[in-house]
Parts: sequence; C-alpha cells; structure tokens
Amino acid sequence: YTQAIRGSFFDFTAVAENPGQLTELARYIEDGLLLLNGGKIVSLQNWEEGQSQLSYPQAVIDYRGKLIVPGFVDTHIHYPQTEMIGAFGEQLLEWLQHYTFPVESQYHCPTHAANMSAFFLQQLLSNGTTTALVFGTVHPQSVDALFEAAHRLNMRLIAGKVMMDCNAPDYLTETPEQSYQQTRELIDRWHNRGRLSYALTPRFAPTSSPALLGKVRQLKAEFPDTWLHTHLSENPQEIEWVKSLFPDRSGYLDVYDHYQLTGRRSVFAHCVHLEDSEWDCLHDTDSAVAFCPTSNLFLGSGLFNLKRCWDRQVKMGIGTDVGAGTTFNMLKTLAEGYKVGQLQRYSLSACEAFYHATLGGAKALDLDSHIGNFLPGKEADFVVIDPAVSELQKMRQANSRDIGEKMFVLMTLGDDRNIASTWVNGQCVWQQNSVEKGEIAG
Ligand code: GUN
Ligand code: FE
Repeated sequence: YTQAIRGSFFDFTAVAENPGQLTELARYIEDGLLLLNGGKIVSLQNWEEGQSQLSYPQAVIDYRGKLIVPGFVDTHIHYPQTEMIGAFGEQLLEWLQHYTFPVESQYHCPTHAANMSAFFLQQLLSNGTTTALVFGTVHPQSVDALFEAAHRLNMRLIAGKVMMDCNAPDYLTETPEQSYQQTRELIDRWHNRGRLSYALTPRFAPTSSPALLGKVRQLKAEFPDTWLHTHLSENPQEIEWVKSLFPDRSGYLDVYDHYQLTGRRSVFAHCVHLEDSEWDCLHDTDSAVAFCPTSNLFLGSGLFNLKRCWDRQVKMGIGTDVGAGTTFNMLKTLAEGYKVGQLQRYSLSACEAFYHATLGGAKALDLDSHIGNFLPGKEADFVVIDPAVSELQKMRQANSRDIGEKMFVLMTLGDDRNIASTWVNGQCVWQQNSVEKGEIAG
C-alpha cells in the first residue's frame, strides 16, 4: 500500500432496504486506520489492530480529531446554472424562462464552458462532493468542457448534453436528429472513459416532442449501459402542462415509461407530487429519484415524501439542484432535508441523512460497486470533516454526547468551512485554505 490515514471514520457497510436497518449497517471507528493503494481502499481497521500491519517506516497522515466519511454524492445538479444561483422571485416555469434559459445560451462558447467547468468542479470538491450526476446545456461543447476538466481530476462523474426540441427559445432548441447525432458522438467520446459515464439527458417532458423522446429511446436501446437523467413531477403547473401536452399518457411518469426511459440507471429529479401508480412504476422499473430539498423550498415546489419513498422501496439520493438549489454544500442540503421532513412529521436522523448522501446516493446512481463506503476494493473518494470550526460549533460540539448528536449538529450548523480536505481516487485534490496557494491538484 502507498498511503495510511488515521482518523475517525463513519460509513455504511451495505445498502439498506428500510431505515430501521441503518444503525445496524452504520460503522463508526473512532480511532481508525485506512490503507489505500493505487486509488483503491485496501482496508479500514481500528488503529490498534491496523498499526501492526504498517511496514515501518510508514508515514501516516494524521487526521485525528477529524471525521472521515465517503465522498458526498450529488444525484442532481446543473453546472451551467452555477452563475444564476439565487435568482429572485419565481417558481419553476417562469424561473426557467426568465433566468435559466438566458444563462444556458452562453455555453455555445467553449472558453466560457471551460472556465465555468473548472469553477463548478472546485465548488463540488470544496464542499466534499466527489461524484455528481450533472446536466450540461444543449450545446455538446458544454459537456466536452466538463468531462475534460473532470477527467484531469480523475473524478467519478456522470453527465450529459441536454436534449430539447420544443417549448424553449430557438437559441436552445435542436432537431431530434441533431440531438441524436450529437449525443451519439459524446457517448463515443466520453462514456466509460476513465471514471466518466454518460447520461442521456432530455430536459423534461415539456421540452421534448414525441419524436425527440423516440430518439432518446433509440439511444438507450443502442447504449443500454448509459444513464438516463431528467426531471419529474416538480411543480403543479408543470404537471398540468405535461398532461395537456401528452393527453394519451396516463400521467407524467408514463410519458417517460412509454418511451422505455425508466430503469436501473434512470434518475428522476424531484418527484414531489407523484401519484401512487407512479411510485409503483418507479419501484417496478428499479428507477431512482433525487430529493432536492433546497431547490424544492426555494422554488416553492413542495415537500418530498421521504417516508413514502422508503415505504414504496424506491432508490433515492440527495441532489443540490444548483441553480434552483441554493447551495453546493451537502451538509446544508441535509439540514434543509431535515426541515422538509419536520413539516411532514418525519425525523431525518443524521445517520439516515449521511446514508443518503453517501452509499444511498451511490446506490441510486448504480455506482455502489465502485463508491459509497470504505470496503476493500472501493475507489478511494472521501472527505475529511472538521466537526467544529466556529466558536458556536465548538461550544455546541463540546456538549454533544455521542457520534449521532455530533453528526446532527454538524449537519445543522455546518457548511463549507467544515470541509478540511477532499480526496479523489486516493489523492488529496482540495484542502481548506490552500486555494490561494495554488496547491490544488489537476
Ligand atoms: N425542469 C426543467 N428544467 C429544469 C431546471 O433547469 N431546473 C429545475 N429545477 N427543474 C427543471
Ligand atoms: Fe434540476
């Protein structure tokens, strides 16, 4: 092995089927030793046991006092919307027209796309997020720029070019044939290159004609190991619009299901207002959903039903949904998720929240054989967290009785200051306070 890391570790050793299993599957090692080799996890043990296996002299990176968790997984985010985060005053459909589409038009320019890609990935890493499922814009160059930047950092990232051919400005629409061709070329160029994967990305049903959805179906059939990433049932007006645009379909999800776009690698963002039959369809097709608490609150979309998601046995991960979401930070996103639960009498524990942000998100993205915990052979993506960086946090953490309370206080009061360092593929790619010194890899 090439690296040895000492600190407190928290992860989940297996995927959970219900929230009752989480405490049993959680593993907390207060004084642990993590061994890495070639970007992979070799072992995680107690310091006492592991120490004897160290070949001396072996430098040990000492993170005692820090909490080390698997890298956060953001299951839904738009990189081009970074520059319009926090846009005032609208709900979904007006927000798209007034703020989103104008900003996305700029990504025809490769230089702009490259600059924003680098900025975006630094935002992810400085917030402890090591994997994301990402929307580009309609322009293929937006996705080329993002994949190039992620490739240099060796990140496990899934992304795709937006496909849309109607109900959007001319400068952002394409023909179904163009959409098909450009997507095909991007798949050839990027899918399965290093740690990168491609997601077919029809924006949502309203900007997709039946012909376009037919092309997406064709691509999914031709490239069955690609992902499918779109929006579903976010806003009541949006849902009514879909019903009027697709009167032959039984509901919003049936539009996607009809074109065979549901499945093990399909991820549907939001799912705030699903019918019972739609929950059943998601379960039966093994599709996943992305819960985006800050976005759903910011756009006034509604409250995602966490309990129903567990009850209906649908895979779920957390999405920041920047720029409708208001932060890149997973701790802050989990804290908002807790409040969404509170409004429905659901108590989201820190244990459950960290599950969704790590192994649960990895499972939702069908990446749990690669990432999500510290089992041997997993890819070494993790985040080193300082649980107390402000006077308030230090005072409050001094009063925390156990790891559960410590983590709950961390997610309630925490933000990007708490991210001490972020590791990707066994390499430290981001460190707090090192930005100015230019110590960032990649
Ligand atoms: N529905 C269709 N496009 C978008 C988008 O860009 N953001 C959100 N939140 N919902 C959408
Ligand atoms: Fe979104």
